Amino acid sequence: MASANCLSIMTFQAFVRSRVTVNCAMSADGKIGFVTRTQAKISSEEDLRRVHRLRAANDAIVVGIGTVLADDPKLTVKREYARGKNPMRIVLDSRGRTPMSAHVLDGKVPTMIFTNSRCKRNFGGAEVIRCGDDRVNLAEMLDVLSEKGVRKVLVEGGEAVIWSFLSEGLVDQFKVFMGSIVLGGKGGPTPAGGPGVRRIEDALRLRLRKVTRLGSGVLLEYVPAVRT
Ligand SMILES: NC(=O)c1ccc[n+]([C@@H]2O[C@H](COP(=O)([O-])OP(=O)(O)OC[C@H]3O[C@@H](n4cnc5c(N)ncnc54)[C@H](OP(=O)(O)O)[C@@H]3O)[C@@H](O)[C@H]2O)c1
Repeated sequence: MASANCLSIMTFQAFVRSRVTVNCAMSADGKIGFVTRTQAKISSEEDLRRVHRLRAANDAIVVGIGTVLADDPKLTVKREYARGKNPMRIVLDSRGRTPMSAHVLDGKVPTMIFTNSRCKRNFGGAEVIRCGDDRVNLAEMLDVLSEKGVRKVLVEGGEAVIWSFLSEGLVDQFKVFMGSIVLGGKGGPTPAGGPGVRRIEDALRLRLRKVTRLGSGVLLEYVPAVRT
């Protein structure tokens, strides 16, 4: 498949940046996976229906390489939960670690792997875009996606990637399903990892827009708070 440098793709015309929704499922004690970092089924059936509808309503789904290595997700719309097209799959994989056996490389759905400019790897079953000198430059990635006609982007995780989108101010909606289970485990993944903040003045502020009971759990929907 083709590979390209993200700066060479972008032209200097004005365009609207893709709208970013973050969605994840956490336990009542704030974990999005087991302490072993393997996948935990946290969503209720009602929430799974919502998630698959949300996938079908977006043009692209983004995950980090950590999630690919931990969960090997297909990132498709499951027909038992929703109808609609599969969004494009996007993996943030600076160093090109996606295994050839990964579901995201099965060639069934258009897939893009974003690496950094130093990564030389190419992948069958996916287009490679080299974007950023270290980790993938998210703002540039969104610009590349906008240029390709992607208007709505769904970020599904994991904790490092969600933190990056939130802390870089790139999130328009933040949806967290809280299931009625406790996973525990010191150091287990949470909805936002990364370095975090050290002072309350630096906390990323959200506005709670909606709370909905979904089966045995609760869906919390936030938007970024407008800074005053
Ligand atoms: N419950 C849920 O809703 C849900 C959903 C998804 C995942 N999860 C869980 O989340 C856990 C995985 O989280 P994770 O934090 O280990 O992995 P992750 O966020 O999926 O991926 C993180 C990796 O992505 C790469 N990356 C490239 N550009 C990046 C950027 N700009 N910002 C951040 N990362 C970037 C980095 O690796 P390189 O430097 O090598 O590129 C980084 O280590 C698993 O336990 C999984 O089960 C839960």
